[in-house]
Amino acid sequence: MKITWLGQSSVQIITDNQLTILIDPFIKDNPLVKTTVAELNPDYILVTHAHYDHVGDTIELAKQSNATVISITDLANYFKSEGLTVEELNFGGQLTLPFGSVKLVPAWHTAALAIDGKPRTLGVAAGFELHIAGKVLYHAGDTALFSDMKLVNHMEPVDLAFLPIGDTYTMGLEDAAIAAEFVQAKKVVPIHYNTFTKIEQDPVEFVQLLNDGVGIIPEIDVPFEF
Ligand code: NI
Ligand code: MN
Repeated sequence: MKITWLGQSSVQIITDNQLTILIDPFIKDNPLVKTTVAELNPDYILVTHAHYDHVGDTIELAKQSNATVISITDLANYFKSEGLTVEELNFGGQLTLPFGSVKLVPAWHTAALAIDGKPRTLGVAAGFELHIAGKVLYHAGDTALFSDMKLVNHMEPVDLAFLPIGDTYTMGLEDAAIAAEFVQAKKVVPIHYNTFTKIEQDPVEFVQLLNDGVGIIPEIDVPFEF
């Protein structure tokens, strides 16, 4: 599969059978990403939680590409009310799809979105466990460190984990390094850093806290093979 980090928590996965999965597409208001909304053509959009830097351009993208949006029930109901095609999940639920499967797993974080200028809470924050072509990927969304991360993939190693390291709103470097151990990640991509001043972090410093060879620091917009 081909994976591209699009800054913040946004990750694009193109599977070997040419299906495109886009997680947390925060494109237009992200100063660091060069890829444009018009260039993206997802089949599935997975949204971890209702914060604006994760919902991002979901509505526009889903309309332009006819993508199915997958999120926690309460947020899925909001997307449905905006005319989108959705698949809802709640914690522990797993969906089988043409590329593999998606499971909604817990995160420790909040989840409100400004709608017509008023903040509305839409479910709670979550993460995703993806099974694609025999590999297990874990996108933690925004979260604090918590010990039940150990239950991701039934306590078996995760092949690739996307973990937030920005601090302030999520785990910082040290907690994220422990999270990598909790999920026994074979590879880890740090996300949710340097987009704004409040989440400035050095990803190299983070990678040094991991076991040798575990950390991957992709360049934004540049795909890598996994
Ligand atoms: Ni958030
Ligand atoms: Mn966030």
